[in-house]
Amino acid sequence: MPWVTVCAVDDLPAGAMRRFPVAGLQVAVYHLEDGFYATAAICTHERADLTKGELRGTRVSCPLHGARFDVRTGRVLSPPAFKPLKVYAVRVTDGSVQVDVG
Ligand code: FES
Repeated sequence: MPWVTVCAVDDLPAGAMRRFPVAGLQVAVYHLEDGFYATAAICTHERADLTKGELRGTRVSCPLHGARFDVRTGRVLSPPAFKPLKVYAVRVTDGSVQVDVG
């Protein structure tokens, strides 16, 4: 799968997250202090949109039942979700944020 441009770097300030459709998937892109990360945007518990939740540091909280995930690894940090999020490769090229969903 080729790299897909989702937004300009300036469109997603540090501490922000946003959902983008990429190749038929819903991808959440996060701008952390040390760069950009991407995961599946849909919670593995009951399919809530994680980008409607809260991003604190490296953790995103689900808006529906409060499960928390590490956005760098997709790891579950607290229930009720138990299945990790898929993580995707992200890069910045010429001021654009690009995602590869593989
Ligand atoms: S839908 Fe995310 S914790 Fe339930």
